[in-house]
Amino acid sequence: MTKLSVNINKVATLRNARGGNMPDLLKFAIDCERFGAQGITVHPRPDERHIKYSDLKPLKEKVSTELNIEGYPSEDFVNMVLQIKPHQVTLVPDAPDAITSNAGWDTQKNEEFLRNIIIPFKNAGIRTSIFIDTEPMNMVFAIKTGTDCVELYTEAYAANYNANKEKAIEPYVKAAEMAHSLGLKINAGHDLNIENLKFFKSQITHLDEVSIGHALISDALYYGIENTIQMYLKQLN
Ligand code: PXP
Repeated sequence: MTKLSVNINKVATLRNARGGNMPDLLKFAIDCERFGAQGITVHPRPDERHIKYSDLKPLKEKVSTELNIEGYPSEDFVNMVLQIKPHQVTLVPDAPDAITSNAGWDTQKNEEFLRNIIIPFKNAGIRTSIFIDTEPMNMVFAIKTGTDCVELYTEAYAANYNANKEKAIEPYVKAAEMAHSLGLKINAGHDLNIENLKFFKSQITHLDEVSIGHALISDALYYGIENTIQMYLKQLN
């Protein structure tokens, strides 16, 4: 089974536009779970332009499936995650001002850095994931960091899906096979949507979790969040 973790950053962006509490982020997260999502993902950024650090404790208290916190492992971020203790932390090498994550880790170059960051998370019982692209060398060094999972950065797959989906998926199949053979769990995310999700899932045998935000929340404007979650779950099962 592949879990669907709904990234709710965009809901926080909408809330922040007026400064009040509409839409209610916490209620939205709980409703996503009620409608079938098997996880909630948030990506707080240093400027708190969508998820605020103050959102995290209530989310951890109320999310009953799985809370995944993503972000660049700055000292503040690491301390915050250790305090909140989500079920999973996903480490992303994004600059503080990045509009969205735009690259995966070079795990060879950052092996020692990541290993040192991952130790306290493991000691605290938090599952770790690192965001990487499909370069085979990234898998080899990912395992050396001590991470439990890798999150495959699917932007390239999504960008090339319409032109040639068989070619677009190839590096992901190879990367996933390698990661699985090394004993890593496989997550995926970025630019996955209702059109490209089913094929991705059908080709990546050991896909543990996808985290989807932008397209899913956009679809919810038309179909409603309950229907939309059902539509995405259908692509996965
Ligand atoms: N994974 C990571 C590491 C991300 O930063 C994001 C975007 O916040 C996603 C997955 C989800 O991407 P999208 O919003 O395109 O579905």
